[in-house]
Formats: sequence, C-alpha cells, structure tokens
Amino acid sequence: MEQEIDLNNLYAMMRPRKVCLCMSVTEAEIIKTIKNGADTLDKLVDETSATTGCGTCSAQVMMILEREKSKT
Ligand code: FES
Repeated sequence: MEQEIDLNNLYAMMRPRKVCLCMSVTEAEIIKTIKNGADTLDKLVDETSATTGCGTCSAQVMMILEREKSKT
C-alpha cells in the first residue's frame, strides 16, 4: 500500500518552530540562549529580541525560560 506524502505538511514539520513570529525567534534559539546564561526574561529579551514586537509570545517565552531553569 502506497502512502501519499503531503509536501507542504512535511516542510512545515521540518521547519524549526518559531515562538516569536514578530522577531523570528525559534524555541531552539531561546533554549540555547538560556543555556548560555540568559537566566532572566530581561537577559533573554536583550539577547534574542523575542517579545519586543506585539508581545503575544511573552507568556510562552516565560514558560520556556521557567521550564529550562527547572532542568538545572
Ligand atoms: S510574536 Fe513575539 S513579539 Fe510578536
């Protein structure tokens, strides 16, 4: 049985997930920045510019920060 592949969906799955669409910041970039020492929201914003557009991603950025800090 042959399975059809939806290329648009495949490309979407391969693209890194953006947390902040305004500033085009991915979750991977946020995690890397936290691991490099940005342990507060202010530092994270200074390094990535995430949340500095419309601001709707703030809660999600904060959640990622808290999650990553709890791992250490
Ligand atoms: S989505 Fe992050 S500032 Fe708009």
